[in-house]
This record gives sequence, C-alpha cells and structure tokens, in this order.
Amino acid sequence: MKIKAAVLHAMGKERPYNISNPLLIEEVELKKPQASEVLVKIRAAGLCHSDLSVIDGNRPRQVPMVLGHEAAGEVVELGPGVKGLAVGDHVVFSFVPVCGHCKHCTIARPALCENGVAANNKGLLLSGESRLENQQHQEIFHHMGVSGFAEYAVVSRQSIVAIDKTLPYDIAALFGCAVMTGVGAVINTAKIRLGETALVTGLGGVGFSALLGALAAGASKVIVADVNKEKLQKALELGAHVAIDTTEENALEKLRDLTDGGVDVGLEFAGVVPALEFTYNATARGGRTVTAGLPHPSKTMQLAPVKLVAEERTLQGSYIGSCIPSRDIPAYIALYQSGRLPVNKLLTHKLRLDEINEGFERLAKGEAIRQILTFDASSADAVSSRMNSDVLQASL
Ligand SMILES: NC(=O)c1ccc[n+]([C@@H]2O[C@H](COP(=O)([O-])OP(=O)(O)OC[C@H]3O[C@@H](n4cnc5c(N)ncnc54)[C@H](O)[C@@H]3O)[C@@H](O)[C@H]2O)c1
Ligand SMILES: [Zn+2]
Ligand SMILES: [Zn+2]
Repeated sequence: MKIKAAVLHAMGKERPYNISNPLLIEEVELKKPQASEVLVKIRAAGLCHSDLSVIDGNRPRQVPMVLGHEAAGEVVELGPGVKGLAVGDHVVFSFVPVCGHCKHCTIARPALCENGVAANNKGLLLSGESRLENQQHQEIFHHMGVSGFAEYAVVSRQSIVAIDKTLPYDIAALFGCAVMTGVGAVINTAKIRLGETALVTGLGGVGFSALLGALAAGASKVIVADVNKEKLQKALELGAHVAIDTTEENALEKLRDLTDGGVDVGLEFAGVVPALEFTYNATARGGRTVTAGLPHPSKTMQLAPVKLVAEERTLQGSYIGSCIPSRDIPAYIALYQSGRLPVNKLLTHKLRLDEINEGFERLAKGEAIRQILTFDASSADAVSSRMNSDVLQASL
C-alpha cells in the first residue's frame, strides 16, 4: 500500500530545520505484514531527542530511513501466526523488539535483546527485512523497528504491546519511549527506595517522566537540574522540590548543601557529558548514578576510579528504562489512570506530519517537552490542535 511518511535522506543538515527540511514527507510503499508481523495505523507519534540525534548525526543510522520510535496506533491487519492480538486493538510501540529466547531475554533483560538490538542496528525488522521501499523499489530502513512518522507501520509482533482502549492515543504514545525510559530508569534501574533523595538532570520528555516516577515512587526530595529556566520552573510546578541551573556558578556546592553532602540517586537524561559528570558528582558517598542520555559514540567522561571504589559508588546505564515492555507499559498506564503519574502534562505541542521539521527545530532549541504528531485530523481538529499547541507553548 502507498502511505505518507517522513523520510530522512541525509544526516547532519544545517539548522534551522524548518528551513533545511531534513525530513521529507513522501509517498512510500509499505509491504504486507509477513509471519509474526502486524500492520498498524499510526494515530500518534512523539518527537524524541533520539530521533533528533539521527537527524543531526549524533546517533548515526542507515538512510534513507523513516524515523519515529515513540508511537501508538490501531491494529489493522495481522500477518500469519500472530497470537494474542486482534484487529482493532490499540497498541503502544516499544523500540527494542523482544525476541524472547536470546540469553538476555531468558533472564528478563529484554532491553539487551541480542536479536532486537541487532535488527535495530541494521535498520530492519526482527525478521531481518524491511517492509518499506520508495517509488523506485529501493529499500528504506526502519527506525528501531517502529518508523512511527508515517500513516501506517508494519512491525514485528514483539515491537507492540496492547493497551487499554480508553486511553487517548496522544497520551498513549508517550509511554512508548519517554515514560518507559524515564520511569523505568527510576524504578527498574535505580530501584529507588522510599525516602531516598534523587536528582534528575535534563528535563525533556524522558527527564520529566523520571521526575514524576521518582515522586510516585516516594522519593523524599527530588532535585531537578537543567540549563533552561522555563523547564526548571515547570518542574517545580509538577512537584520537584528544588531546581538548579547547572550553568550557575557553584551549582554543585548548592546542591550538596541542600542534601547533606549529595543525593542518594542521580539520574541523567540530558545526553551530554557535562550533565553526566554533574550528576555523578552530585551523588553522596555510596550514591548510585543512572544514565539514559545518549551522547555521540565518540564522547567520553572523566572518572576517578578511586572515588568510585573508596566511596562505593555505582554508575549504571539504562536502556528502555530496563523495562519489560509487556509488563511495564500497562503498569505505568494504570499509574497514570489512577492520577499518580500525570504524564499528560508533558505534552506541550500537537503537530501534523507536515509540521515535523518545525517540531524538530523547536526540540533542538529546547522549547518543547513532548510534541506529538497526530494523524487523520479533520480540518476542525487540526485547528483545535494548533490552538492547543499555542496554549501549551505559552505554558512552557
Ligand atoms: N536510554 C534510552 O533508552 C533512551 C530513550 C530515549 C531517549 N534517550 C536519550 O535521553 C536523552 C533525553 O531525551 P529527551 O527526548 O528527553 O531530550 P530533550 O532534548 O527533550 O531534553 C534534554 C534536556 O537536557 C537539557 N540539557 C542539555 N544540556 C544540559 C546540561 N549541560 N545540564 C543540564 N541539562 C541539560 C536540555 O535543556 C533539555 O531540557 C537524549 O540523549 C536521548 O537520546 C535515551
Ligand atoms: Zn526516544
Ligand atoms: Zn532476545
């Protein structure tokens, strides 16, 4: 079938993206779902910094590629042998397909799934194939097994989780990356304990999710750090206890004074090395640092092993929040529905597919938390979305 999709042909185009248009909205061919694959109509997709990192070349991938890895949609067609799903089901995508039988999957660490990560690195589905091609029948790559910036996607069964049909799609999409990564980093990776103090550095969709996760998990004090004053202010409104601008002189000393020597748990979601160093140095003796940020592969950090050892610190990476998507996505949705994880507050802008380059320029400037593309909006809906976007923008 022919679908409209946002295709990246070259990384590293100059900014502003609303002028250079790194993503082209094109008609592409989407092939039918094969064994263990599903055709999904995309209803909402979020703009994450990991998409931006492919656009700006910080996270190099194969091109041409249809980007987008945080999305929600409706099942339209099942390929042969698909179990546990029906046409009409609502689903959230997970950006690492889970093979279920590699050595990591069998010990319940699907974030490390060998087959899923290998397929993602090749820009292919778990089957080892692409279902996307251009008008000249040349292959187009999938982004993280999802490629959600499109009207439809064919994905592996293991890339989707069925969700409660009453949840609006624009909220549902957030759970696929921002919420799973941010909340999961707090709960699964850092395993925060009731009453511990936490620092969340980097207030994008992922960091804000971590803030809400730390509050829901019973952290006694959550400190937020960013370079953007509006985001720090918004974090205070959402329940953060202290906000710190990392560019201010003595930011680290200020944090240490407020926490009797440092936080128990430092969490980094900025994706730049200085933010990770700040977070690590802000932890107390015995502190745990968890990082989910993804700087360019060439970047390295300074670390004195003696401090790590003699102060019994830990530094741990967190990918997809160390989640088991089929377990954690429904659990985090249930927390949202009970009012304890108000992730709807992260949705700052709604866009149409043809506004995607504007959206990425806004993300690069730090003027958005989560922007969501919605599809099939009638013209009346489109007007109301745009108004909503203006109102939300004003609130940021
Ligand atoms: N590990 C995973 O599974 C996973 C999943 C999703 C995203 N990510 C990565 O997490 C990071 C965050 O993603 P996002 O979509 O929330 O990004 P974002 O761009 O929306 O937010 C990043 C925030 O970091 C802040 N920041 C930049 N430099 C800083 C500094 N020196 N000190 C403090 N704050 C600083 C920015 O102002 C911004 O608010 C990215 O690196 C992304 O690639 C990782
Ligand atoms: Zn993401
Ligand atoms: Zn596996």
